[in-house]
Amino acid sequence: MLMTDRERLAGEIQALAEKHGKGRTALIPMVQEIKRKYQKIDSFAMQVIADQLGIHPVEVYSVVSFYAFLGSEAHGKYIIRLCRTISCDMQGKEGVMRQLENDLGITFGKTTVDGKFSLEWANCMGMCDQGPAMLVNEKLYTRVTPEKIHEILEECRRSFGVHATEQKEVHLV
Ligand code: FES
Repeated sequence: MLMTDRERLAGEIQALAEKHGKGRTALIPMVQEIKRKYQKIDSFAMQVIADQLGIHPVEVYSVVSFYAFLGSEAHGKYIIRLCRTISCDMQGKEGVMRQLENDLGITFGKTTVDGKFSLEWANCMGMCDQGPAMLVNEKLYTRVTPEKIHEILEECRRSFGVHATEQKEVHLV
């Protein structure tokens, strides 16, 4: 018997859930992978994702909507998006924000002059119980602290061979 498109999609989602560990933290990478492959995520796919992860479809919808909103403007090589919604706000988003701005020498909404880092605000990514949540491009970080910021930025800089002290402060309007 031939597999229907829905069965195939459901099988792929199940495989992705297994690959990413079936927990809530699997949600964002799964949404990213499905979006890359199919360009959109319909209500059937959202329901299957929710079933696989044992979460409410509304949570999946919120992350899918969040991703639909991304990618509309010009950005740096690394786009850092910090969640500013209430749970993350109450779990220390302010300190993380200050650390990012100090380390990069730019404020939120700006890009470093070398085009390597942009700082942006994001709304809830569905990781409210593990905040503050932050995305660096497609990589998700949870329970971010100011202390972890240096390490995360160094990881990015290593990828293009630039040391922290070489970053310059310039604001693009
Ligand atoms: S409030 Fe930040 S992830 Fe939900």
